[in-house]
Amino acid sequence: DLKDYDISRKTGFLPEELPLSHLPAYYEPWELIVNNLPALLLTKRVRSMVLNLPYLTCSHLATDREYRRAYSVLGYIAHAYIWGVNEITDKLPKQIADPWLEVSEKLGLPPVATYAGLVLWNWQQIIPGEKATTDEEFLNNLKVIDTFTGSLDECWFYLVSVYFEYKGAPCISTGLDAIKHARENNPEKVKECLQALAEQIDYLGSALMKMQEMCDPHVFYFKLRPYLAGWKNMQDLGLNGVYYGDHPTPRVYSGGSNAQSSLIQTLDLLLNISHHSTGEASSSAKENPFMNSMKKYMPGKHAKFLDHLAKVNVIRDYVISHSKSDPELLLAYNAAVAMMKTFRDKHIQIVTRYIVLQAQKSRSMGSETTSTVRAGLAKARPEKKTEELRGTGGTALLPFLKQCRDETGNTAAGSWGKRLLRDG
Ligand code: HEM
Ligand code: ALA
Repeated sequence: DLKDYDISRKTGFLPEELPLSHLPAYYEPWELIVNNLPALLLTKRVRSMVLNLPYLTCSHLATDREYRRAYSVLGYIAHAYIWGVNEITDKLPKQIADPWLEVSEKLGLPPVATYAGLVLWNWQQIIPGEKATTDEEFLNNLKVIDTFTGSLDECWFYLVSVYFEYKGAPCISTGLDAIKHARENNPEKVKECLQALAEQIDYLGSALMKMQEMCDPHVFYFKLRPYLAGWKNMQDLGLNGVYYGDHPTPRVYSGGSNAQSSLIQTLDLLLNISHHSTGEASSSAKENPFMNSMKKYMPGKHAKFLDHLAKVNVIRDYVISHSKSDPELLLAYNAAVAMMKTFRDKHIQIVTRYIVLQAQKSRSMGSETTSTVRAGLAKARPEKKTEELRGTGGTALLPFLKQCRDETGNTAAGSWGKRLLRDG
């Protein structure tokens, strides 16, 4: 049952019950900071506020909603603490570190800002309880709970992902139905499911491109993105790991990235799209360690669902074994794969506009005016050549994303399917 994996047929990997927007009164000191984060970052008071926090335990958290809210709140506070004052620090005080470790452990997530904390559990209704009869009405009544910057751009950055998850929810049921029909050897039904899946994935590409409506690439890159960074491969900023409270060894984590979306990995699994180590795009190569590691950055139950799906999925084998007798089935499968490839093409366009071009701009402005100085963040970041750029997840951006895209195209079945996807 999907519920056992914390998945809803209606909202997918988003919780069906609205996320909680405020913790019980005991946690007011945390709420005070997170509710005022943009102002505290502007005045650079965030670190002193955190240092003065009382030591609060998790014993007043009861429900899943409360644990999730605590996880989001502590993520915002900790990233602001590390990145938001003139000198970067690699030590999180224990009044933040200890409860964060406990809450993360409970949810099966690492203690770092993740897609779960920033997106899945960070939205509420503008008008609480307003009736929605269509998807559009539902989505038009959403707003973000917490932000670093207080900007519309940041809100939109998260909301587009919320829309994406919501719009993608039907893919989960459709995919599971397709598996069921394949097991029952019902090619007509499998075909219908794959056709529906192709259409649903097509929506996802459109949802992604909505990013440009309200999220300005400059604001994203210079004002928001630095806070999303984690503490892995950040040596050039003098940070490789963070000490959590009194623990003697530092912990190293990737920053928040949409690569932590379970939806996309679900689709890859359903269609048997596999990703390999960068530079080894052959099917005998090892699984891509980054894509694999991102499962550890998903809520524990969602990651378990992916493991389950990997075991039960039979769609591609079924399609291939029927391809001679049922070319339309093959066509439907290839159409779904083609839509995934289109999604990844669109995503590369977005990454080019939001990261690569912004980094070029910052180089041409000279290091005096680097982004981060103007954003009021910790010390200026060294200028990077395009090939040195890294995603907040730590990948080499374009080579990684292009390989993911090409591997998608190569999954098309049948010789003409492959040709079609390669050339088109
Ligand atoms: C991966 C950037 C929006 C889905 C990545 C990566 C980068 C990136 C740099 C490489 C992994 C890393 O190192 O972090 C961006 C930017 C966005 C954006 C700049 C918008 C301003 C989105 C949205 C989605 C999405 C809205 C959909 C939920 C993914 C996925 C991956 C990924 C699924 C893993 C690679 C793949 O499956 O092809 N993104 N992203 N991204 N992003 Fe985005
Ligand atoms: N993963 C996105 C980036 O690298 C957020 O900027």
